[in-house]
Amino acid sequence: MAAGFDTVLVVDFGAQYAQLIARRVREAHVYSEIVPHSATAAEMLARSPKGIILSGGPMSVYADQAPVLDPAVYELGIPVLGICYGAQLIVRQLGGEVRRTGTGEYGRTELRCDPASVLFSQWPEMTEVWMSHGDSIVAGPPGSATIASTPDVAVAAFESVARGLFGVQFHPEVVHTARGQELLKRFLHDICQCRPTWTHISVIEAAIEEVRARVGRARVLCALSGGVDSAVVAALVHKAIGDQLSCVFVDTGLMRAGEAEQVEATFRRQFGMDLHQVKAADRFFGALKGVVDPEKKRKIVGELFIRIFEEVAATLPGVAYLAQGTLYPDVIESGTSAAATIKSHHNVGGLPAEMALELIEPLRLLFKDEVRAVGEELGLPEEIVWRQPFPGPGLAVRIVGAVTPERATILRAADAVVLDEVRRAGMGHELWQSFAVLPAVRAVGVMGDERTYEYPIVVRAVTSDDAMTADWARLPYELLERISSRIINEVDGVNRVTYDITSKPPGTIEWE
Ligand code: XMP
Repeated sequence: MAAGFDTVLVVDFGAQYAQLIARRVREAHVYSEIVPHSATAAEMLARSPKGIILSGGPMSVYADQAPVLDPAVYELGIPVLGICYGAQLIVRQLGGEVRRTGTGEYGRTELRCDPASVLFSQWPEMTEVWMSHGDSIVAGPPGSATIASTPDVAVAAFESVARGLFGVQFHPEVVHTARGQELLKRFLHDICQCRPTWTHISVIEAAIEEVRARVGRARVLCALSGGVDSAVVAALVHKAIGDQLSCVFVDTGLMRAGEAEQVEATFRRQFGMDLHQVKAADRFFGALKGVVDPEKKRKIVGELFIRIFEEVAATLPGVAYLAQGTLYPDVIESGTSAAATIKSHHNVGGLPAEMALELIEPLRLLFKDEVRAVGEELGLPEEIVWRQPFPGPGLAVRIVGAVTPERATILRAADAVVLDEVRRAGMGHELWQSFAVLPAVRAVGVMGDERTYEYPIVVRAVTSDDAMTADWARLPYELLERISSRIINEVDGVNRVTYDITSKPPGTIEWE
């Protein structure tokens, strides 16, 4: 629970829908939390919600294992909005009828709604919504009013105002539903009477207050990775407790171009933080010498990072807390097998478990877009706030085969060209990641009058929502052309550039 904010619970009925709904609720300035569908009414009540939203889900409400809601939730006197599966579930549990009518709807659909209803109050009669359902509601729960229909479906929305029950067959959370956000706001602000106080400024203020109360006069340590999460944590904790915070940045020699300098410029010079920058490239290259197995590389980098971090920490007396950039998606997903994979990624270069420090995680309630907004609000430079994800082991997992200083130099230079050209093309924000990979082969080429025998560079650019799946980005040919010719001209040791057109699955985003 976020103290001082009105809370709406989003009950997760599977697939990816719940997170998107939760984010949209927050965009309406109301704090949202995701709870599993197995949560009981008492567990929900313990979070003092002012509204409950039931998400969509991939199953039919009639399927054997179809998830249900604790029926006592409907009796709590808290308004409930069901979306898609959520709406069908209300109908099924409260005595209406859902049927496989053979007229499923997928995609954009014209909705005729009742402007005299509470949910669609004052809407124009016709509006466009996004549908994705096979089963259809043929009768709402007894006592409810049908408040919208489509050419194919008679009950596209219903409400029972006296019982605080609302259901929509369409998806208000997706952008293709023209008035989707308006509908959510109507539910949140008017029906649930939530105060719209969840703003970036109030989020920062609440986090600062919490950190101060927790930490008192103790010292806090924070490992900066150069990425957005740890940067925002550092800026936030620094704002809360000033020079009681010490930051450690380990320059592994496996960072992107300019990253170490950026950290120095931002955290020491701009914010005046107590920054301990450790130049440890030699130790990392030494430890990685002759190692080609990707998992071994990960382990070596992770362990050495922790060792160095501990060495620095030992020189800083009185540290009692470790600040970490754990985000809300990590929190909700922990426990699932997918999350287990993400977790092991995050732990690389992260927390030394045996260090007997208490954790503070001021971002643990925030989604990534909120973290970025908070970072901007705190005055972090755009290059840090919008930096693409970067694996903890850094370039070590993008240098296929042996990791040497020379090969890292080649890759870093090529990678800088990719990022620079993507940024110039204005595509930085729409790509999940874009980077260069150095494979362990050489190829013959010709430059001037001479044959060359050098490395190719693989360019990888993907779009993704969460890195669990990804698609290769359809970069414009002109952009690929510029990237290719600049890498060949500017990076010694490279004579060929290729573009990776593999999605995930079957590929992974990284090459190792
Ligand atoms: P893959 O390659 O598995 O990557 O598709 C999914 C996402 O995770 C990042 N990644 C890592 N992050 N330590 C990390 O902190 C790692 O060892 C690691 N390996 C992959 C990758 O950049 C992508 O965003």
